[in-house]
Amino acid sequence: MSSKRPSSGLTTDKARSLRELLERYNYAYHALDTPEVSDAKYDALLQDLRDLEREHPELITPDSPTQRVGASPLVAFGEIKHRVPMLSLDNAFSEQEVRDFDRRVRERLNTSEPIRYSAEPKLDGLAVSATYENGRFTQGATRGDGETGEDITQNLRTIAALPLRLRGKGFPRVLEVRGEVFMPRERFERFNAQAAVRGDKVFVNPRNAAAGSLRQLDARITAQRPLDIFIYGTGHVQDGSLPVTHGQTMQSLRNWGFKLCPESRIVESLEECLRYYEEIGARRDALPYQIDGVVYKVDELELRRRLGFVARAPRWAIAHKYPAEEEITVIRDIEFQVGRTGALTPVARLAPVFVGGVTISNATLHNMDEVERKDVRIGDSVVVRRAGDVIPEVVRVMIERRPASAVKVLLPGQCPVCGSPVVRDEQQAVARCTGGRSCAAQRVEEIKHFAARRALDIQGLGDKLIEQLSASGIVKSPADLWDLQADQLQQLERMGEKSAQKILKSIQASKRTTFPRFLYALGIRDVGEATASALAQHFETLEALQSASKEQIEEVPDVGPVVARNVVAYLQEPENRRLLERLRAAGVTWPAIVRASAAGGLAGKTLVLTGTLSGMSREAAQAAIMDAGGKVTGSVSAKTSYVVAGTDPGSKLKKANDLGVAILDEAGLLELLRSSSRS
Ligand code: IVH
Repeated sequence: MSSKRPSSGLTTDKARSLRELLERYNYAYHALDTPEVSDAKYDALLQDLRDLEREHPELITPDSPTQRVGASPLVAFGEIKHRVPMLSLDNAFSEQEVRDFDRRVRERLNTSEPIRYSAEPKLDGLAVSATYENGRFTQGATRGDGETGEDITQNLRTIAALPLRLRGKGFPRVLEVRGEVFMPRERFERFNAQAAVRGDKVFVNPRNAAAGSLRQLDARITAQRPLDIFIYGTGHVQDGSLPVTHGQTMQSLRNWGFKLCPESRIVESLEECLRYYEEIGARRDALPYQIDGVVYKVDELELRRRLGFVARAPRWAIAHKYPAEEEITVIRDIEFQVGRTGALTPVARLAPVFVGGVTISNATLHNMDEVERKDVRIGDSVVVRRAGDVIPEVVRVMIERRPASAVKVLLPGQCPVCGSPVVRDEQQAVARCTGGRSCAAQRVEEIKHFAARRALDIQGLGDKLIEQLSASGIVKSPADLWDLQADQLQQLERMGEKSAQKILKSIQASKRTTFPRFLYALGIRDVGEATASALAQHFETLEALQSASKEQIEEVPDVGPVVARNVVAYLQEPENRRLLERLRAAGVTWPAIVRASAAGGLAGKTLVLTGTLSGMSREAAQAAIMDAGGKVTGSVSAKTSYVVAGTDPGSKLKKANDLGVAILDEAGLLELLRSSSRS
């Protein structure tokens, strides 16, 4: 037991310097996003301060970093009247509505000049107010009805990203800031997963999680929730002043220690606002937090004053919303789809719902492990998600809404398409139909894969058409495509003579392909584009690959025993041998492989891509690097030749810096590709 000794001037100084150091590290970590010390070092210093304060409780101050752990529970939240009302925002759902907003702003201000705006993500969290007096955090409140909110001072204190004490000088004696408390997506997923394991309540989305965590009467619970905060404005200010524009004000707030959203930006016109909307929209899914739109705010505060507000929303700001990416719907049924390699994928048939900008009625459940892990049943209400071009998926079940009649699904013992037995590998989550090409589903998927853009790229031969051709028994194998006759095509619904000729022509054109594409098109299990390319480079000819042993195939870089076994098994199967013969006989050919080491200037080089490239897709960059003989991998090591960093690079850039790996920007990559094609 430590005896409580009175503090000397020395211990007071020590406590103060520890607090200052911890505050500085906290600021660097949260507000600047550039940590100065390791987490372990930070924790050790915090422990030192805790020890000191335990021995000398009179040294504890309300703004000490040790006080973020949460105070004792309240019976109820007190009320706080907002000295400046907390307004809400009007919404715009289309470009036209945003143009109308900008026009109204200019009309009211009587100007035809473009307006300067602050463009910011609209965070999907909870609006809060935080008041500082003499630089110390004194009061926190929820928005409530905009006039009166709840006193959540103790809860806000637990959020590490909110300074308890302001840095620097020049802040008003009383300063109220406003911002959004949120739970970063990844931390939300982790939190929910842990809650599910414990049998605790899971939250529907990060927004509910943030709200639920913040409105805890026991702030010790809030302290354990991974909350974060971005400040986006100010409220009441007394004895002091702020700059005349929003942008400058935000800069001051940042210097005083507040964490701002790194994506916020000052733009010079409405057109730039709309570009911002597109740009953020394209990266929406990669952002570490959920947003439901962007906000445009007139930057100049004098103009804001002249514009004023109507009802509860200012005339000087508008929220430009994105289509919701997550919605709630009901699972009507769960069926199994059979893929190219026989894999059975459980698919949820949904009550149609508008999400991610389209109406969806199906969502993938991936595999049985996933169905069991998420405990998805027929009749359940679920959160479904569709972001960008990704396949809609079931994110989670709303257990509290489960009806007594909800039904569990079991893996069928027989293929729902051909009736062959279904087997499930002990090691793998996938269950497969054992029917092979005798299964109509596997046959049709094989042909779809063969004709796909990244494979033989048969233009005009879409999935629907392949399904028709397969159902009518005209095409049973990819090789049958070259026997197709115009009249056979014309028998099909909605197929005229012209379209039929066009399709026959593109089937003919697809004969001239490349060896990697051809290998990929075969659809050998686990042979994706990169493996197909590696095999082609290594063996150069189909004949060489066909006569290679499993061991020889394993010599190919990045090809392991499982893939090698699949390749050998495929090539030895008599039916596949016949398919290959028929394809060659039909005239499918490719130019001879030129060895990468002789051809490409990037031979032997390994590149890693991170962040978004503006001029090309990631796939295009990858293809260009591979064409030049280089390799693209997913993680940075000392062996990496270059890391190509686009905008918003991830942790890979940091790792490259740490390891001293050369870093290229997009222009650098283009130059490298140009120079290596010259050499
Ligand atoms: S400004 C008068 N900026 O949206 C200005 N709000 O509907 C009002 N929100 O309650 C707030 N991100 O919870 C502003 N960058 C942002 C925001 C933002 C999210 C929320 C906030 C507010 C609601 C307004």
